[in-house]
Amino acid sequence: MDGIEAVAFDLYGTLLEVASVGRAAAEVTGEPAALVDLWRQKQLEYTWLRSLMGRYQDFWATTGDALDYALDRLSVVVDEATRARLLGAWLDVRPYPEVPDALDALALGGRRLAVLSNGTPDMLEAGLAAAGLRDRFEHVLSVDDLGVFKPHPSVYELALKAFNLPAERILFVSSNAWDAFGARAFGLPVAWVNRSGAPLERLGAPPTVVVPDLAALAEAVG
Ligand code: 2OP
Repeated sequence: MDGIEAVAFDLYGTLLEVASVGRAAAEVTGEPAALVDLWRQKQLEYTWLRSLMGRYQDFWATTGDALDYALDRLSVVVDEATRARLLGAWLDVRPYPEVPDALDALALGGRRLAVLSNGTPDMLEAGLAAAGLRDRFEHVLSVDDLGVFKPHPSVYELALKAFNLPAERILFVSSNAWDAFGARAFGLPVAWVNRSGAPLERLGAPPTVVVPDLAALAEAVG
């Protein structure tokens, strides 16, 4: 962890708790967690598949498609206003409780912070503002200009360009294991925030450090 001058964070699942989208889902189903889990799984699958197919469509539209699939699969029918409310929950996702203090600690000594996410610029700005976190970040980086999703290497390169630093000076942080392995494969030092105690993926070079939450990461980075 020596020599880290900047930290780039994944957003959904890492700083913001995807499960909190379930507050909106509870309006339409008695099993909001099942809807959110399936919705999130499809959202990610669609990003990977669209990238492989060379058929990029932004994360907002992709999240909408994933919602429609999940509703169909669970046989839940909603009107347009309810669908809009469900989708809108992605603009107001609750941060994990340790996030503000951990960001303070990680920024000590002038360390620079960024978000690097699949989200569209509008989603990222709205979500960070709603979480009260926008002013913590020097850069809010979206895949949208590239037209390809994580874990494509060009996505992680955005952090090098934004900070104008070599890879070894930038720590990438994600709770999404596949994202952590993607960034590591690109060549960044990586912290995997393994909130659920999941086993290591078999996807090449492992993360540089594994921590249970961001408070532990702030301690590890020092
Ligand atoms: C993000 O890019 C993958 O959801 C994750 O924010």
